[in-house]
Amino acid sequence: MAFPILSPEEAAELIHNNDNVGLSGFTASGSPKVVTAALAEKAERLHAAGEEFKINVFTGASTNNWADGALARANAINRRTPYQNTPDLRKRINSHDAHYFDLHLSELAQKFRYGTYGDLDVAIIEVAEVMDNGEVVLGTGVGNVPTYAKLAKKVILELNSKLPKEIYGMHDIYMPLDPPYRREIPIYKPSDRVGTPTVKIDPEKIVGVVHSDSYDGIKGFTELDDVTLQIGANVCGFLIGELRAGRLPKEFLPIQSGVGNVANAVLFGLGDAKEIPQFEMFTEVIQDAVIELMKMGKCKFGSTCSLTLSDKTEAEVLHNLDFFRDKLVLRPSELSNSPELIRRLGVIAMNTALEADIFGNINSTHVVGTRMMNGIGGSGDFTRNGYISIFSCPSVTKGGLISNIVPMASHIDHSEHSVDVIITDQGVADLRGLDPVQRAEKIIENCAHPSYRPLLREYLNLGTPGQTPHTVEAALAFHAAFKNTGDMHNVDWAKYGY
Ligand code: COA
Repeated sequence: MAFPILSPEEAAELIHNNDNVGLSGFTASGSPKVVTAALAEKAERLHAAGEEFKINVFTGASTNNWADGALARANAINRRTPYQNTPDLRKRINSHDAHYFDLHLSELAQKFRYGTYGDLDVAIIEVAEVMDNGEVVLGTGVGNVPTYAKLAKKVILELNSKLPKEIYGMHDIYMPLDPPYRREIPIYKPSDRVGTPTVKIDPEKIVGVVHSDSYDGIKGFTELDDVTLQIGANVCGFLIGELRAGRLPKEFLPIQSGVGNVANAVLFGLGDAKEIPQFEMFTEVIQDAVIELMKMGKCKFGSTCSLTLSDKTEAEVLHNLDFFRDKLVLRPSELSNSPELIRRLGVIAMNTALEADIFGNINSTHVVGTRMMNGIGGSGDFTRNGYISIFSCPSVTKGGLISNIVPMASHIDHSEHSVDVIITDQGVADLRGLDPVQRAEKIIENCAHPSYRPLLREYLNLGTPGQTPHTVEAALAFHAAFKNTGDMHNVDWAKYGY
């Protein structure tokens, strides 16, 4: 090998306080596994000696426990973007130890190239193979690697022996030119390819190769319960209705499905729905459920940024690449989440909400308006540009103490202008073509839990005039009731003078 072999600790020594560090991968898939863990140990050592050590971490999306998890526990993250989902980092973000700014996933690479965040000092990139000329074959997640590899002053490679060489050919690596030279991305169906199977890195910048040997460390999803199964069935029922009405073409359209338990349930529902034809996916993550759908023949093809699979399913895919090779393509976030491509292909966008308000605004990120959960991820890229944009969530959370349908969302990630349909375990609210009061009536009657419907109707009828009849004093009464009594049912309109 043309490059020095380093231990994780030696590689960590090449990274300095306040460096801007770009990590490979997208979700835990393809994220570094050993250098970041060594970096966290270095940070702990330096902190114990009274020295400052924090880095700015730029990723593709969330990472893993060896990266975000370990670095957050060591309090070694200063700035961080985009999406994250480890409990330790979430705590650091909400206590302001880590300065997190939440960004649409499609935007980070170009913003870095535009110079928005300064220089990139180091990139740590997981690879399946490295050639002497600096070309690398990536693993199960791409994220922003092409841009990080191009911009970084130094590149550290993690060569993961769990990744078979046969993964070569699964990636479609492409970087658009920046304005004013940008042209259209010539992808006209999910399986089209426009790029190369490898990332070409300037060999002069590769400072070392570190060996690793583990799968991505992703746990399986929680068993589906009655509520999530019902949501899945309602989403399928809605899509079948659209097919029957001719509002979806009979060939169907590519599907994007978000992250989390509800998204997983929706995918299982699609597998069971006989009237849904074979379909393709144009999405950012492929979870275990899609692999099952591919084996059943229901999902024909998946264009994605990552294979976000449990270790068991990851091993199955990596050992059966002959079967999966012509069914999957892995692309950078700039392509997987490209607004241009999502709009052109007519992607059916299906994402999960924490809460929705009666006028159709969606909160995907902030628990009770204040605490960051994960981030907006790619949900905005897909929602704003999809052929049809669906949000689903359970009607209630925490045993019914929280209504996920509220008078006014306590934080807004997706506004009423981008949201077409809201679906809960209770039913479907198709909001297209409705004015705000009509939307509110639909959402309350079709999506809210029956125990909250009277309170929501009362709010709508408090008597405030205007096209969107919000009563500003009482708009967050549900959240206030939860904060003060632990139960959103305990709303008292009299407190607000009604
Ligand atoms: N208020 C407070 N807490 C709420 C809540 C609400 N309205 N709704 C849900 N929660 C809590 C749940 O109780 C659960 O808490 P727990 O971890 O203590 O059990 C937690 O939030 C997650 O809820 P769950 O129903 O398991 O959700 P999920 O796994 O389906 O994930 C999101 C839902 C919204 C957090 C997740 O989809 C996400 O991060 N979305 C934003 C990014 C995105 O959409 N990316 C996809 C683009 S491709």
